[in-house]
Amino acid sequence: MSKKTTWYKDMVFYQIWPRSFKDGDGDGMGDLHGVYEKLDYIKSLGCDGIWFSPLYPSPGVDCGYDISNYLDIAEEFGGMAAFKKVLDGAHERGMKVIMDLVVNHTSTEHEWFKKSRQRIDPYTDYYIWRPAKKNGGIPNNWDSFFEGKAWAWDEERKEYYMHLFAVQQADLNMDNPLVREEVKNILRFWLDMGVDGFREDVITLISKAEGLPNDYIMPASKGTFLYNHGPHLHEYLEEFRHDVFDNYDAMILAEAPLASPKKALEYVDERKDPVFDMMIQFETQGADSLFGDWFHVPFILFRLKRIYTKWQSKLDGKAWNMLYIENHDHPRMVSRYGSEKYQKESAKMLAASYLFQKGTPFIYQGQEIGMTNWYPEDPDMYEDVQTRWQYFNVATKASPKRRLKRLWDCSRDSARTPVQWSAEENAGFTTGTPWFYVNENYKEINVADQENDPDSVLNFYRKAIELRKNLSVVRHGDYKEHFIFSSKLYTYTREDERQKLLVVCSFTDKKAVMKAPAGFDLSKAQLMLHNYADVSSKTLRPYEVRVYLLDK
Ligand code: GLC
Repeated sequence: MSKKTTWYKDMVFYQIWPRSFKDGDGDGMGDLHGVYEKLDYIKSLGCDGIWFSPLYPSPGVDCGYDISNYLDIAEEFGGMAAFKKVLDGAHERGMKVIMDLVVNHTSTEHEWFKKSRQRIDPYTDYYIWRPAKKNGGIPNNWDSFFEGKAWAWDEERKEYYMHLFAVQQADLNMDNPLVREEVKNILRFWLDMGVDGFREDVITLISKAEGLPNDYIMPASKGTFLYNHGPHLHEYLEEFRHDVFDNYDAMILAEAPLASPKKALEYVDERKDPVFDMMIQFETQGADSLFGDWFHVPFILFRLKRIYTKWQSKLDGKAWNMLYIENHDHPRMVSRYGSEKYQKESAKMLAASYLFQKGTPFIYQGQEIGMTNWYPEDPDMYEDVQTRWQYFNVATKASPKRRLKRLWDCSRDSARTPVQWSAEENAGFTTGTPWFYVNENYKEINVADQENDPDSVLNFYRKAIELRKNLSVVRHGDYKEHFIFSSKLYTYTREDERQKLLVVCSFTDKKAVMKAPAGFDLSKAQLMLHNYADVSSKTLRPYEVRVYLLDK
């Protein structure tokens, strides 16, 4: 096979997390009718692609990442008819649509699982079943990412099944060729319908180590090294590519927990028949945490800069970066790397900090208006399965106040409150009762107000995306970071033979003195984008950003 698809390299994607995007039928749950209403809005941002988090039928234990039927669209989202209308509507507007493919696990409500637990062939070995140890104990010491150990006992089959995520998300046995055939059927089903590609959920976890041995290396996260990038992963991915993707013009975006650039290149190196087009790395999320999402520390700009630059330089000329700062799995960035006090300024600065890098940017719903974190007073208001486990089972001796603060800092539910469309009731998200809490700040932060304000975060995103699209230097120019020891500023340039673009981002609420890198004559440069009305001085104000263009 030769590398085919490259259309995604010129695009900007918008991620929809369906439950909270827009309710079109008044039942309080976001749906595809709502998406259809907003297609022109998404297009107006300059986005030309949509990634849908799962839309399939699901009991909703993990908000749709627990799928009970891969070949349908959930009724609550409007069913297949509504999906086809959205797909056509997107295509008519020149937009691509990619679906979430979640095949590390299915819901325990999936027919396959129900038959597997009854040992009905051919489903008997569709999942990872193991008998109890002699003492009744679990088959190995691996942990699940969400709740406790990675094993649950099934009374009917009288065996344990593996679940790397929630108890109701049973891991598929990808070593079974029949399961791989099922995956290929799913892929073909959606591709034949006209879907343009997939975001593949935790896809690097699908091959588990032979014999499922105990892990003694990493007590803090038992098992990870025995199933992340497992022994047959490449083989299975190549099989999917050869049997399916080679026959379509589809984009594959892989979610890869714990991937470094070196690891990523094993999959996305364009010189070596890649199995993925791009990878979602997690490192960008790690500038205010240690050991994953649940150990929060103050934001450190050095760490973010190092991560940004590492991915830009290590993939340069070899592979294509997927650029993002937010998605449905992490709290909002204004509240983390930016500032709620300087919400407007920092939201814009954060946008420019990544939108002019080399790669394909993704924008998560609500990010384009600078939505912020959510601070409920009662832990029971949280919905997310992982968040609830963390609250009720981890660090339970700490004071309730500290435990709640931990959720405020770390829970992904902060990114899952409904999109704030207007200052009307329920933020204009629904005419019914919203399925989840609306952030109280919707009267100050909402799309309708920002549409009418030329200086809004929303209109900054539009300008930044337009600029990105108009400048070939942003698409192809070399990336370089400057003043790497600055603890306040992130400064980078993009350069090709004709032009040089300079982006200066202040990550502080103090003043900072701006410097241009050697050879960049500011007096000859044109200021293309900024977030304060006047820009006469070299002193940058809190969270100020400036983007300059120099013709060579
Ligand atoms: C991915 C998804 C996340 C989900 C998990 C299990 O990380 O992005 O939302 O909970 O996989 O499917």
